[in-house]
Amino acid sequence: MDYSVKCTQPETVKTDCLVIGVYENNKLSPAAEITDKKSAGYISNTLKKGDFNSKAGHTMFIYEVPNIAAQRVLLVGCGKPKRTKISDYQTIWSAAAKQLVNGGSRDAVSYLSEIRVAGFDSAWHTRTAAIAIEDALYRFDKYKTLKTKPKKALQKLIFAQLSREALQRNQLAVTQGLATGNGLNRAKTLGNLPANICTPSYLAKEAKAMQREYKGLKTNVLTENDMKQLGMGALLAVSQGSREPAKLIIMEHLKGPKSQKPLVLIGKGITFDTGGISIKPAQAMDEMKFDMCGAASVFGTVAACAELKLPINLIGVVAAAENMPDGMAIKPGDIVTSMSGKTIEILNTDAEGRLVLCDALTYIERYNPAAVIDIATLTGACIIALGRHASGLLGNNSKLINSLKTAGTHSGDRAWELPLFDEYKQQLSSNFADIANIGNREGGTITAASFLSHFTSKFAWAHLDIAGTAWKSGKDKGATGRPIPLLMQYILDNHVDAG
Ligand code: BES
Ligand code: MN
Ligand code: ZN
Repeated sequence: MDYSVKCTQPETVKTDCLVIGVYENNKLSPAAEITDKKSAGYISNTLKKGDFNSKAGHTMFIYEVPNIAAQRVLLVGCGKPKRTKISDYQTIWSAAAKQLVNGGSRDAVSYLSEIRVAGFDSAWHTRTAAIAIEDALYRFDKYKTLKTKPKKALQKLIFAQLSREALQRNQLAVTQGLATGNGLNRAKTLGNLPANICTPSYLAKEAKAMQREYKGLKTNVLTENDMKQLGMGALLAVSQGSREPAKLIIMEHLKGPKSQKPLVLIGKGITFDTGGISIKPAQAMDEMKFDMCGAASVFGTVAACAELKLPINLIGVVAAAENMPDGMAIKPGDIVTSMSGKTIEILNTDAEGRLVLCDALTYIERYNPAAVIDIATLTGACIIALGRHASGLLGNNSKLINSLKTAGTHSGDRAWELPLFDEYKQQLSSNFADIANIGNREGGTITAASFLSHFTSKFAWAHLDIAGTAWKSGKDKGATGRPIPLLMQYILDNHVDAG
């Protein structure tokens, strides 16, 4: 979609669709007020008929509005004025976006920028709107022979402002929102692709494709042989029961000063998780194709930063493997040696995510990172603890954790901290190796992170458990692209000077 920011008047702007907000009890937003005055009360008269619901997320088209240059007006319910929450703002925009794409407009001019969430500047509003729109416009119909395309596709959206204030900063915000939205949708597609297509090799190809797409992005793919040389016994153990070779994918976006230590993102890329010999029940097992959504979020975030040419040093690493049961597969009780030298007793082959991640964590020590964030659909226990609204957040550095938590709140892509006390480590003791790969049933998300913490003593580290947030089940089954909004907000706020 082509976005721009302009200073225009609602009554004179020529467009297929004028988008304006109406608050609860039919209170008009400033642009709606102007439109109403110029049209001799057409808007307020329409509202008096009572068909319109002004709660956040409701919409209505109206036509033939007198003295207005626009072909039609989309009224958008905005709820109570001055009480708009971040989630309301996102609901308002995705509702408007859905109407616009399915309607008959090729272009639209929106005054919803007047809707304000207290405490955020106008650039935040514009960026958040662009992300919500891109999110709402996403389709995954690659494998549908009949594709449902709207009659007229919306191609151009103008964020209109009544004043010239902050025009330039809003233009930058549009670019950031679009890049984030593109990254989000790239991640959703990788997540939604079936596991017979999206294999570790497919992910490696995706990285190479991104290298061609974005100048300055350098990718490197380690094969199983390379990993053997490095002693990545934990990662390779997960892959040994699969006919798809594992890949360790490294993407370098080094556009910051040489002296600046990089931010490293590591994604769990299990392209299908059967559980291995500790096999999972059949119920909803198809959803284990989403077990690479952490990896997908790394691809999406790196792509967004590359698209924006951010002047930062960012390294994305994806540990990609398939977890299968077979004659070669690891068995409960097997002991492997990780790249760090620590030995691991694999008591449950379904706790594979931490096995691929631990070797990736050791591998990235070579970059002397400023901070490391791993993103993983790591534990079902996280869904029990937090449900599907917040990602689990743990780590060894409170400053990093707090910045991520704030970024989550500000982007509406929330994360919530769980404790990582030393005491939890006791649950991982093994009679036969240095550590076991599982604890007991108690605090499953925390013991998984405790396992990872054995491999993170050399840097500031945070872990995002996205088991509950990376995809939706049921009739809206599909990847969400989370936590890309959180990660982009974090990067723009903490790693870019004028975010
Ligand atoms: N990928 C799963 C976690 C998962 C399960 C995410 C369901 C989302 C929905 C992970 O590899 C796994 O199987 N974890 C086990 C760990 C257990 C064996 C300690 C789990 O959560 O049951
Ligand atoms: Mn598993
Ligand atoms: Zn898994």
